[in-house]
Amino acid sequence: MDDPRSVLAAPSHPSPYAWYARLPAIAFDASIGLWVLADPALVAQALEEPALRVRPPAEPVPEALRGRPTGEVFARLVRMTDGDFHARHRPAVAAGAARLARAAVEQAAADATRDLAPRTPIDALLSAIPVQAMARLLGVAAADLDRTVAWVHDFTRGIAAGASSDALDRSDAAVAGLLAQAEGLEPALAANRIAFMQQALDATAGLIGNGIVAWQARAASLEGTAFIAHVARTDPAVHNTRRFAAQDLVLGDAPIAAGQGLVLLLANPQAKLQFGAGAHACPGERIALAIAATALRTLAELGALQRLAPPQGYRPLPNARIPVFAAA
Ligand code: HEM
Repeated sequence: MDDPRSVLAAPSHPSPYAWYARLPAIAFDASIGLWVLADPALVAQALEEPALRVRPPAEPVPEALRGRPTGEVFARLVRMTDGDFHARHRPAVAAGAARLARAAVEQAAADATRDLAPRTPIDALLSAIPVQAMARLLGVAAADLDRTVAWVHDFTRGIAAGASSDALDRSDAAVAGLLAQAEGLEPALAANRIAFMQQALDATAGLIGNGIVAWQARAASLEGTAFIAHVARTDPAVHNTRRFAAQDLVLGDAPIAAGQGLVLLLANPQAKLQFGAGAHACPGERIALAIAATALRTLAELGALQRLAPPQGYRPLPNARIPVFAAA
């Protein structure tokens, strides 16, 4: 089997892990125009490095989103900001996640799975379950759940690189609906309320999907979260993240110039970086594990898990690993 073409093609490769283990600690990949950090110690250092930002310093908000409601929300996401804004708003976002009790998360995930599984094709189901579960936890009324799940998908497509003008218009309309649900919340909290559902979408879809693949290979007990925690480490959903140099710096023995971009490998089974680290570490790890574990258990109780065929491949995403089960 050929190696992945680059670290951005690896998340959808049938088995990228042996190739990851052969990568140099740090190297510039001219084919993608980015530095690639594979050594876990260097990645951990980079995640703590203030000179490395989550957005290109010259483009804090993607050009295409500027002047749009989607761009105003993007500018307030703790995931997409650094410095004073991030420091001021991250604590409330993390506290919001910490307040969600495990039993409530499990109930929301079980209810979402039971509601969606009988009427949703498997590949759409992987992302609809975590988004509907988060929407339930955020107090969205039952009658508004389907519309909210559709809006979060539209927003996620709208902030993706290269989004079409139609996708941007749909995202702006979705933002109007999602912000209306957050009436009374101050703007940064209202924006990050959307992020709770958006961050849960692809990443938890990947965890549920990779959990299904692992269960098909070895039908282990689905009680608790031990099985899914093992999958989250050995076949993770998020394989890499980006950083941008705000000034010249040296990482390992590599001279990084201001403005250059870096891909940080998070998918190393030996290292505990799957949920990030440092200022931007994921505040939703516990929630994600509870949603994914409950979704698998509930799909098994419904008999849906046992009926699934092995995956056809993986979605062509540059950072997330999400299996595709339905034949094209
Ligand atoms: C398997 C599921 C998930 C994985 C693997 C995952 C992974 C990550 C990673 C790696 C980061 C850091 C990105 C970076 O440093 O560039 C992150 C950030 C974040 N995640 Fe998750 N996540 C998952 C699910 C969730 C869920 C369910 C929530 C919702 C509560 C969530 C909320 C967030 C938020 C708000 C941030 C931004 C934090 C900040 O920038 O300060 N994530 N996630």
